[in-house]
Amino acid sequence: MGRLLAVTSGKGGVGKSSVSVNIARTLNERGNSVLLIDLDAGMRCLDLMLGVSDRLIFDLNDVLNKNKTLEEAIIKASNYSFDLHFLAAPLKEKPDPAALYDLITYACTRYDFVVLDFPAGAVDDLYKALPRYAEALVVCNADAVSLRDAGIMGDSLKKLGLMSVRLILNRVSFQNMRRGITANIDEAIDGCGLRLIGVIPQSMDIYVSCCSGKAIEPKSRAAKAFVRIAKRLLGYDIPLMSYKKI
Ligand SMILES: Nc1ncnc2c1ncn2[C@@H]1O[C@H](COP(=O)(O)OP(=O)(O)OP(=O)(O)O)[C@@H](O)[C@H]1O
Ligand SMILES: [Mg+2]
Repeated sequence: MGRLLAVTSGKGGVGKSSVSVNIARTLNERGNSVLLIDLDAGMRCLDLMLGVSDRLIFDLNDVLNKNKTLEEAIIKASNYSFDLHFLAAPLKEKPDPAALYDLITYACTRYDFVVLDFPAGAVDDLYKALPRYAEALVVCNADAVSLRDAGIMGDSLKKLGLMSVRLILNRVSFQNMRRGITANIDEAIDGCGLRLIGVIPQSMDIYVSCCSGKAIEPKSRAAKAFVRIAKRLLGYDIPLMSYKKI
């Protein structure tokens, strides 16, 4: 049985889609089969971030409405020698949560990881598609607004009874933390009350990757941050202690 990662946030624009793409790519590069699904109906973007928009024919609703099988609708988004499987969000109509639940359940029997990129905002009907074994990753920046919304989101996700709800702190500027402009790591954890699984720096490599559709430069700090998160997800003991010095 594969694992299900639900990438969410309270506030919009904090980096969910960038995190979804890079966690999916990194897990895939480490030998796991991965299906990445864009759930942001009407505002899809992962096809652009993966550089496959010119190959899109089918989307999630084609599978949910049984026009196509999952295997027919996925796109293979090659990343070096790896094949990340990708299913695009519908252009308009929101996916039906019950049908999506069934698809997710099936996909988890076929892949090591299924990664869901949720739209921003409070827990709504779409979350009815999540089985209890889903692991939520709440993406958040270190500013007060983002942290408050992450806390609210985290509480709602915990109420759904999900297996785990963890925090990814994205767009972190250690300079801003040292200068007291944003929360530091400890303050961020306290601010939203979630267990931290990783810290991703503010990074031009991530921005360029999202704009170009190409993978992040593998030796960059950003790529290494995603490797640490992937390893933690895979059960390796990678300490978070070094952040405490900030
Ligand atoms: N760590 C980072 N460093 C630099 N730029 C980043 C980082 N993370 C995300 N970005 C950039 O921020 C912008 C918003 O990111 P993204 O689309 O992933 O956010 P989102 O949370 O999915 O947004 P939405 O709520 O609209 O779905 C993108 O241009 C992306 O390239
Ligand atoms: Mg997004």
